[in-house]
Amino acid sequence: MIMNALQGKVVILTGASSGIGEATARVLARSGARMVLAARRGERLEQLKLAIEQEGGTAVYQVTDVSVEAQMEVLARLALDTFGQIDVLVNNAGIKWDRMIDVNIKGVLYGIGTVLPHMRERRQGHIINVSSVTGHIVRKTWAVYSGTKFAVRAITEALRQEEAENNIRTTIICPGGVDTELVHTITNEEVKRDIEASMDIALTPEAIAHAIAYAISQPPQTAVNEMIVRPTRQEL
Ligand SMILES: NC(=O)c1ccc[n+]([C@@H]2O[C@H](COP(=O)([O-])OP(=O)(O)OC[C@H]3O[C@@H](n4cnc5c(N)ncnc54)[C@H](OP(=O)(O)O)[C@@H]3O)[C@@H](O)[C@H]2O)c1
Repeated sequence: MIMNALQGKVVILTGASSGIGEATARVLARSGARMVLAARRGERLEQLKLAIEQEGGTAVYQVTDVSVEAQMEVLARLALDTFGQIDVLVNNAGIKWDRMIDVNIKGVLYGIGTVLPHMRERRQGHIINVSSVTGHIVRKTWAVYSGTKFAVRAITEALRQEEAENNIRTTIICPGGVDTELVHTITNEEVKRDIEASMDIALTPEAIAHAIAYAISQPPQTAVNEMIVRPTRQEL
């Protein structure tokens, strides 16, 4: 019943071409959300759009680098031109190491800045930012990745306070280990070995997709502001 709350919602989702983003696109589309998909790999987005449509869902996509503000504006424009509104932004795109600050922090800020005027005008909307357990705790070798994910939590909490009067919801999603392509973006061999070793207990991306769907599905006056979703057997 709760999932019906997703019916017809227009959701912009970044990082939709693999992992948590791809799973989230499928889960939300199955519940009736109209998806606006973004990532850099266009062929992946095209395949995902077709797969969603084959299941009876609705999706459009735009090849987008979230670290380029003008490209985020084109993405938001596509959502408005196609569907006339934006209900939810899921800032999910993220990488480890190279270009982390541009993608993980600036990408999130550009996404927020692009959809906020529209959401303020409608006095409704929902911004979901994917942080991490590493946005709560830091260990040696995690400095920059963890720093970006702490930043995502700080930015989202400030946004919550600033936009409460405008009736805009915010959610921070903090996954623990999830089995995705992210591990391939790690360049430090020691860290890569550690993460690969932990993959046997890792969550599937669908576990995070369901957490995102849960947050969107709440009644409008209920804001699920933060969720930490770890594999049961993950210690840190
Ligand atoms: N996997 C985990 O254990 C874990 C744990 C905690 C948090 N997270 C967070 O979860 C989120 C999703 O990661 P994932 O694990 O699903 O990894 P993934 O499979 O590598 O997915 C990352 C997504 O981000 C996109 N992306 C990367 N750079 C981009 C850019 N400049 N512009 C637009 N899109 C870009 C990638 O698509 P393109 O390459 O096609 O652009 C891809 O779709 C990230 O924020 C990550 O930090 C993951």
